[in-house]
Amino acid sequence: MGPCLWILMLIVTHITAFRRPRDLSPCQVFQEDANCSNLNLTKIPIHLPATIHTLDLSRNLLQNLTDDVLLAYSSIQHLNLHSNKIQFIQPGLFQALTRLQVLDLSRNFLDLYAALKTPIGPLTSVQRLDLSGNGLFTDMSGYFLNDAPALTNLSLDGNSITKICRDTFNGTQALRNIDLHNNVIIEIEEGAFESLSNLSELDLSMNSISCIVDFNLFQLKTLNLRQNSMTNFQTIDSELEFELLYLDLRENKIIYFPVLPRKNKLIYLDLSRNLLRSVNCSGSLEELENLRDSGYLLTDHDKHISCISKRHQDLPRLLYLDLSYNQLKSVPSSFFGSMVSLETLNISNNCLESFSVDSESPLNALKTLDISFNNLHNLSFGERTLAALEVLHLQGNALSTLDGSIFSRLPSIRSLHLQQNQLSICSSQWGPAKDCISLSGISTLSYLYLSDNNLLSVPQSAFQGSPLLILDLSLNPGMEVSPLSLSGLETTLSHLSLRGNQLQRLPFDFTLFRKLKSLDLSVNRLSGLSLWSGDSSVESLNLQNNSLVTLAPDMLQKALRTLYVGSNPLSCCRNQHLLTLLQQDRLMVPDIAAVTCWYTKDSENMEISMSAVQPEHCKSVNVKVLLISVIVVLVLGLLVLTVIMKLLFHSRRHRFNRGIKA
Ligand SMILES: *[C@@H]1O[C@H](CO)[C@@H](O)[C@H](O)[C@H]1NC(C)=O
Ligand SMILES: *[C@@H]1O[C@H](CO)[C@@H](O)[C@H](O)[C@H]1NC(C)=O
Ligand SMILES: *[C@@H]1O[C@H](CO)[C@@H](O)[C@H](O)[C@H]1NC(C)=O
Repeated sequence: MGPCLWILMLIVTHITAFRRPRDLSPCQVFQEDANCSNLNLTKIPIHLPATIHTLDLSRNLLQNLTDDVLLAYSSIQHLNLHSNKIQFIQPGLFQALTRLQVLDLSRNFLDLYAALKTPIGPLTSVQRLDLSGNGLFTDMSGYFLNDAPALTNLSLDGNSITKICRDTFNGTQALRNIDLHNNVIIEIEEGAFESLSNLSELDLSMNSISCIVDFNLFQLKTLNLRQNSMTNFQTIDSELEFELLYLDLRENKIIYFPVLPRKNKLIYLDLSRNLLRSVNCSGSLEELENLRDSGYLLTDHDKHISCISKRHQDLPRLLYLDLSYNQLKSVPSSFFGSMVSLETLNISNNCLESFSVDSESPLNALKTLDISFNNLHNLSFGERTLAALEVLHLQGNALSTLDGSIFSRLPSIRSLHLQQNQLSICSSQWGPAKDCISLSGISTLSYLYLSDNNLLSVPQSAFQGSPLLILDLSLNPGMEVSPLSLSGLETTLSHLSLRGNQLQRLPFDFTLFRKLKSLDLSVNRLSGLSLWSGDSSVESLNLQNNSLVTLAPDMLQKALRTLYVGSNPLSCCRNQHLLTLLQQDRLMVPDIAAVTCWYTKDSENMEISMSAVQPEHCKSVNVKVLLISVIVVLVLGLLVLTVIMKLLFHSRRHRFNRGIKA
């Protein structure tokens, strides 16, 4: 330990020692709040101000709550005892805390207390009580709830309750919100909730409820039955209006569309991840027999619903309907007849072979339609339908032939998800041709996804007049593009993906695309690149997985911030500009770990990480070249010298010879 640290420690110890007599408890007190959380306390601290309103004792080691200390804090409104080891509470303790509104007893051992079979006594003023995570069995909650006349919010989340008895909530008539999430409820006795006239939210998600056949909670606004084993949901037949707004039936085993209140205000209905085979709310007896034959256990209730209820279901206020992940083969257009307010419809991941919207049920409020991942072959939208549709998901279908102008008739369409189909694109120039879809002249279209369609080509001006911001043409290997394929998008296009298209050359001058910010050219066969003739606006460029050896300095323009360039056969020594940018941190290369380059050493090709390139890697080559040149020069010089000498010698001898002759 250095001397400085030691002195610092001394000072700190000194200060704490100085402060201790004034701080009688380890808690932090700020105005009316005392925070004693997570201090390994086994007792409630004494000497806190008597006027505190909030006392947080969560995450300590309290076992027994007796009155001696707690009663000193008679102004407490909010008492948090979450995550202790409480197994005993002095009966009647909370009666004296007449201002207590919020009592959090979650994550304790109150099952041990309940074994004493003594009610904790009146919770006179408590409005919110949290008993979650206490291992409580069915009858145990009674000891806490028998006299809580002000209680509005109750959580019993994460206990082991199997049955809700008729008298469970007799002592808590003011309840508005009950959370029974994550128990093992199998049975709800008739009358358990009916008397709670203020009950507005009921969470029964993650239980083992197998059916509800006479739903009659008129006052309830939110009912969550997610993750049970429900095979059907049925409302009692009544002319009275139900207040229900949200009904969550997700992740059950429902086979027929639920029988909903005849007069309803429902705005949200989630039926995703069930076993719906049709949107009828009953099947014929014959269908049920078939089901039984295929191993489905038929209950009396199933037979019951098959016989009643061909009654009409109106859902005039419904905004959200989720039918995704079911087994629907078809949904007749008439099913949507009453859904005049519907804004979001999700039927993705079913078995639909065709889908149509007709003028009888025009769905003119619908903004988002998701029919992705079905088996669609046919799709038709009638005249004057889907007037508000902005987002259409059709990805993952088998669509190949469509009415060519189907998307041109959607007056508000903004986002088209067409990936994973077999579509081809019409040229804008020769009018709507057969067997292709027209994507030009759609003045509202901004987002277009055409990935993985086996597109053979992108015709000239294919998107002319559609102000695209995002265009995804990826994963269409062998797709042909021409210089005019993207014409018309110069002033709007901001993101373009040509990933995975086996492109060897690019015929575009991206300088013309003045808004282009992000360009994905990864997974192609590009070897040489010339992307722009002048300044470009591209900030993110993906060149991963191509055949690039060098990147010319004018490729790496000023605007460029992020470059992906891994998996290319780059040269270490011929990319000086890239190296400089990397060394000066002027460019982000997120895949730098995968960026390698090649250099020659002892006439062998070596691969190293681009970030490891040192001047020597390239100099070594130069030294050799230098050496060779020096030798060559020397040899040449010597040669020249020899020749000259020889010539000189020769001419002298010649003269000499002549002299003799003479
Ligand atoms: C809590 O109360 C129980 C029963 O009254 C008693 O047996 C136990 O010793 C007490 N524990 C503490 C820590 O006071
Ligand atoms: C209590 O329940 C009401 C009505 O269900 C709900 O709106 C509110 O958020 C809940 N309050 C608390 C503090 O949990
Ligand atoms: C439709 O449901 C699927 C599956 O639940 C989900 O992944 C998808 O995001 C939903 N579609 C929309 C548009 O919300």
